[in-house]
Amino acid sequence: MDPNCRHPVTFLLVFLTLVSSGSAWVGVNWGTMATHQLPPLKVVKMLKENGFSKLKLFDADELIMEALMGTDIQVMVAIPNNMLEKISNSPKAADSWVYDNVTCYLFTGGVKIRYVAVGNEPFLKAYNGTFAKKTLPALKNIQASLDKAGVSSKVKITVPFNADIYYSPDSNPVPSAGDFRPEVRDLTIEIIQFLYANNAPFTVNIYPFLSLYGNEDFPFDFAFFDGKNSPLRDGKALYTNVFDANLDTLLWALDKAGYPDMKVIIGEIGWPTDGDKNANAKSARKFNFGLLKHALSGKGTPKRKGTIDLYLFSLIDENTKSVAPGNFERHWGVFEFDGKPKYELDLTGQHQDKGLVPVEGIKYLEKRWCILDPDVTNLNDLASYIDYACTFSDCTSLGYGSTCNILSVQGNASYAFNMYYQVNNQQKWDCDFSGFATITRKDPSQKGCQFPVMIARSSSLLLHEGILGILKKALEVLFFCMILL
Ligand SMILES: *[C@@H]1O[C@H](CO)[C@@H](O)[C@H](O)[C@H]1NC(C)=O
Ligand SMILES: *[C@@H]1O[C@H](CO)[C@@H](O)[C@H](O)[C@H]1NC(C)=O
Ligand SMILES: *[C@@H]1O[C@H](CO)[C@@H](O)[C@H](O)[C@H]1NC(C)=O
Repeated sequence: MDPNCRHPVTFLLVFLTLVSSGSAWVGVNWGTMATHQLPPLKVVKMLKENGFSKLKLFDADELIMEALMGTDIQVMVAIPNNMLEKISNSPKAADSWVYDNVTCYLFTGGVKIRYVAVGNEPFLKAYNGTFAKKTLPALKNIQASLDKAGVSSKVKITVPFNADIYYSPDSNPVPSAGDFRPEVRDLTIEIIQFLYANNAPFTVNIYPFLSLYGNEDFPFDFAFFDGKNSPLRDGKALYTNVFDANLDTLLWALDKAGYPDMKVIIGEIGWPTDGDKNANAKSARKFNFGLLKHALSGKGTPKRKGTIDLYLFSLIDENTKSVAPGNFERHWGVFEFDGKPKYELDLTGQHQDKGLVPVEGIKYLEKRWCILDPDVTNLNDLASYIDYACTFSDCTSLGYGSTCNILSVQGNASYAFNMYYQVNNQQKWDCDFSGFATITRKDPSQKGCQFPVMIARSSSLLLHEGILGILKKALEVLFFCMILL
C-alpha cells in the first residue's frame, strides 16, 4: 500500500498508539447488567477525573460509545458469545459488526478503539462447549474485516479466557508444571497461534477471590499481595500470592506451547464487597490496592518482569447479573449502583489512600421506602411474598456473611419489599403484597445494612445528558459512517 494514501486520521491514530504504548496503565470493565443505568456521559466524566485510561466493554453500546467520543480513553469493545455463531458463519456479518461498532467511531474526535474482544470466556465449562468451536472462526472473520477496513494495525483482536483453561496437576501443583487442560488444549493453542500471528494479546481473567471462595483450606493471606505466610516454592521461585502463581501457570503453559513471548493482558480482576463472608469493602480495598501497587511496580512475577496490564472488575455494581456463581456476583463494583466509590483507591499504585471521584449530579427517586407494615401480626405466607419480591429484585445482601444478614424475619421482609419497590421505580402498587407492606419516609437502614433509594430512571437522556449533546454525537457518527461508504 502506498503510504501517501494513508488517511490523515489513520496516521494520527497510529501515532497516538506508538506514543502511549509501553507505559503502565489501569483499565476497568464497564458492565451494564443492571435495571438502572447511570447516564453514560456522567460516568465517562468520572472515568476521566479518576484517571482510568483504558476501558473494557462487553458489547459496543451506542450510548456508551457516543459518550466516549472525543476522550483519550482507550477502549476494548466486545462481541458477546451469542453473536459468535453468526459471525463465525458469515464474513458479511463480521464486516457489518466491524463497520458499525469499530470503523464508524475511528475518526478524529471519535472513540479510541484499541481491541475487539471476540466472545467472553467462551470455553467456560458451564457453556458445555456451545461456543468453543465458534470462537476461532469468528476471530478469523473479525480479523479479516479489520484488515479489509484498513484498521488492523491499531485495532487488535483478543479473546478473554477464564483462568481454568490451564492448570497444574495435583501431583505437582506448582506454576512450572502448568499446561492447558487437555480437553481445550488444541483449540486454545490454535487461537494463540492466530493471535500471535496478528500481533494480538492473550487475555485472561484471574480471580483470587474465587480461590478463597468455597475453599476453607485456602490460606487467606495468599489471596492478597502482602502475604508472608505459607509461600509456595517452585524451584528457585518463591510465590507469596496466588495471582503471581496463577499468571505464571499460564506463562509456563504458553512456554510449553511455543509462545514464551506472548503478550498477556489481565481482562478481569477484582474483589466483591457483599454476598459472601470474604466479600466486603475492607478486603476489596486491600486486594485492589495491593494489586495496583504490584502490577504497576514493574516487578512482575517470578517468571516475567515488567508492569502488568489489567482491567479491574468492575466499575459499577450490576443488580441483574446471574447469581449462579454466588451472591457476590452483583457486588464487584469499585462504585455502587449510584456511582459512589465504595472505598479509597489510588489508581497510580503509589502509596496512601486517595479518594476516588464519584459520578456527579445523580438524581434519585424520592426518599421513600417500602417496608413490612408494623401493624400486621399474622405473618403466615410472608415467606412466599419475600420470595416473590426477591425473585424480581436483588436480595443478595440478605444471605449468610452479607451486610444485611443481621436482620430479623421482619427486617428481611422489609428489605425484600423495598428492593422490589425501588427497582420498580417506587410505583405505589408495587408496595402492597396483599396488605403486608406499607410506605415510609423514615430510612429503615441499620448499621452496615443499606436500604437503598433507586436512582431516577428516564432521567438518563433527557434531564441529565442534554438531548442535544447526544443528538449531536449521534449525528457525528452517522456523518463519518456515510463518508466511509
Ligand atoms: C454492534 O454492536 C451492538 C451492541 O453490542 C449490537 O447490538 C449490534 O448488533 C452490532 N452491529 C452489528 C451490525 O452487528
Ligand atoms: C450444560 O449442561 C448442564 C447439564 O447437562 C445443563 O444443566 C446446562 O443448562 C447446560 N448449559 C448450557 C449453557 O447449555
Ligand atoms: C433472612 O434472609 C436470609 C436470606 O434468605 C436468611 O439467610 C436469614 O436466615 C433470614 N433471617 C431470618 C431471621 O430469618
